[in-house]
Amino acid sequence: MNPLHDELKQRYEAMMASFKKTEDDPYRLHFHVMPPTGWLNDPNGAIHVDGVYHLYYQYSPYDAAGGLKYWGHYTSRDLVHFKDNGLALLPDQPYDLHGVYSGSAFEENGVMHYFYTGNVKHLGDHDYILSGREQNTIHAVSYDKGMTIEKKDVVIDASDYPAEYSNHIRDPKIRKINDVYYMILGARNRNDEGLVILYQSTNLTDWTYHGPYFGPLKGMGYMWECPDFFELDGEDVLILSPQGVNQDGFLYQNVYQSGYYLGEMNADEVTFTPTSQFNELDRGFDFYAPQTFEDEAGNHIMWAWMGLPDADYDNPLEYGWQHAMTLPRVLTVENHQLIQKPHPNYQVLRKQEDVRSLHLSEGAYEYFTGTAAELLVTIDDVTKLTLTIRSDVTLTYDDETKQLTLALGEAGRGRKTRTIELTQLKQLQCFIDQSSLEVFINDGEYVMTSRMYPQPDEEKIELTGEATGTLTHWLLEQKN
Ligand code: FRU
Repeated sequence: MNPLHDELKQRYEAMMASFKKTEDDPYRLHFHVMPPTGWLNDPNGAIHVDGVYHLYYQYSPYDAAGGLKYWGHYTSRDLVHFKDNGLALLPDQPYDLHGVYSGSAFEENGVMHYFYTGNVKHLGDHDYILSGREQNTIHAVSYDKGMTIEKKDVVIDASDYPAEYSNHIRDPKIRKINDVYYMILGARNRNDEGLVILYQSTNLTDWTYHGPYFGPLKGMGYMWECPDFFELDGEDVLILSPQGVNQDGFLYQNVYQSGYYLGEMNADEVTFTPTSQFNELDRGFDFYAPQTFEDEAGNHIMWAWMGLPDADYDNPLEYGWQHAMTLPRVLTVENHQLIQKPHPNYQVLRKQEDVRSLHLSEGAYEYFTGTAAELLVTIDDVTKLTLTIRSDVTLTYDDETKQLTLALGEAGRGRKTRTIELTQLKQLQCFIDQSSLEVFINDGEYVMTSRMYPQPDEEKIELTGEATGTLTHWLLEQKN
């Protein structure tokens, strides 16, 4: 019996029974996960169990501008079509009253385990870093394959974190190695430096602090959110979302970053030694807080929030919702670099295919349409290439400077350009949705992800420049 839980649940169900506003929004996406209404941020608890994918997410149902966080819940059998299962975790306990924050999931012996951060804010005048809040680490379980989640224990009470840290410690991710469970958490220490810290356990209930797993590092910001760690193609990968990293030319241009290190996990000390630099995972405007899991075939998949916290631009909110997830991406490591490709299941959305050979010269152009479309450009030779998407958004490559620039125009609502310096442009794979664009470059060497707001019915996709190669265009299935 938890009266607060029942009250919050009833309130949500009453609101959803009468809520239809989002469906009328001409910017609603066709093939991306969005909140049914309200605000969405990080992917949480992403997992595949017995043929079903679960995607939980940070969800503020009542306020498109964000607010009290719940976990929303989508399920899917193919990673393409999703079913909304409403609320999975509600802020209904003294230890998570001001937000069921981000966390992760894994399955063992038929039981699904969830670890998340319970956020509690203190009333009154407080120092934001040191005393304004508590972030508890909570264990929850599901005995029915992820459809209902029961809260179990506070496994790390906020007052038990070591004294050298501020009260910003969150976003647990677990990995089991040789019968020991390792939990990493993103943290901010009292010197205002970001780092990843590590706890360990043999029974999932008793967790002991082990020490820093990685960091702090000079120039890498004051807080690291949403860490993730896994082995892939023989390398250890550490993903994190640092806050407070300064812009460096074309790098780190968004308000916060998400990126990865490749490295080695030292098995005795359980610390991470990087063998690569920090690489941004996405070079567009909207990408944050990624989380990875394994799909049915054992591929390592990454989902991210196609948005950012504290961003300095305005998405339209008049239809009562905001933000979406990226497409799920398959990760591999090739030549000491993380490669990202769209999860191939989306191909069931392809409807009409148009293949052309590309022979662009001065004054010539290729023309396509689609507000839900995929365009694959394979390049043999290029001097200059401009892809104009829905009139307002351009992707331009100049082989002299080797720069690839995404410019959002009016559709950017104040956001202007992002540029990548390439060694060569070989391929572009663009996913155009009603109000989003994902561009995979050179078979997943780079990705640029952005929301965009061109005129909703503007369909034109045009290519100009001087280039040869092959073009393939698909219209993708639309929602209605
Ligand atoms: C990242 C984040 C997490 C936190 C959650 C709260 O976007 O700030 O660190 O758990 O969002 O919604």
